[in-house]
Amino acid sequence: MSTIGILTVSLIYLFSRASCQVTRTLGNSNDVCMRIAKDPYFDIDLVVGEPWRIYYSWNMNLETKCLDLVIRNATQEIIKRIWTDMSEYLEQQPYWEAATLHMSMGSPSHELLLFAAQGAAGTFLAVPNVVRNSNIKPMRKGVPLLKFQMKLIRNGKYLLMMDCHVGASTLSARVGRSYRTEIAAEAAALNLGDGHPACVNEKKDDEQFFLN
Ligand SMILES: *[C@@H]1O[C@H](CO)[C@@H](O)[C@H](O)[C@H]1NC(C)=O
Repeated sequence: MSTIGILTVSLIYLFSRASCQVTRTLGNSNDVCMRIAKDPYFDIDLVVGEPWRIYYSWNMNLETKCLDLVIRNATQEIIKRIWTDMSEYLEQQPYWEAATLHMSMGSPSHELLLFAAQGAAGTFLAVPNVVRNSNIKPMRKGVPLLKFQMKLIRNGKYLLMMDCHVGASTLSARVGRSYRTEIAAEAAALNLGDGHPACVNEKKDDEQFFLN
């Protein structure tokens, strides 16, 4: 599949229902994934459970949109369901039995099945379920596996997730636990491209609205 195809599928999955704008795509996204992977930190026990909310993004702009990621262990039932929906549409089959995590983004039907990939901790291949509750009818064998690099920051306070093909990245925290100033400081230190705060109308306690 062409680069445009990969972009399209990734974007359909990740961003269409969020109706956000992708502000820039990087030619060297995979290099940035490798940079993140140089100093990996990922622990399943710290990422599953309570929702993560995206508070910052790079190379796409969510603005007032508040998107939550819910991550849980993949069960046989989940694997079977996503296999049924997606196997005929995938360019190549993952090793289905080895699926480790399930992630939903924004809505329960907007889901990814994640497979720990070779290499650094936090490197995943992913099957996007692009057909569940949607009108999207992909071509047979037309959907590539996606690749993500994830990394926990500050002992699991923040979760960084990068799409290695498109170059879009998100920084998430558990809902309502972090101040904007802290998030902005983390984001600045990461410096992953064209950055934007997300979910900008939410404020914690008496914190000022964070406008830039
Ligand atoms: C999820 O899987 C991990 C490792 O595979 C395990 O340590 C953990 O207990 C599981 N969590 C739940 C909630 O089942």
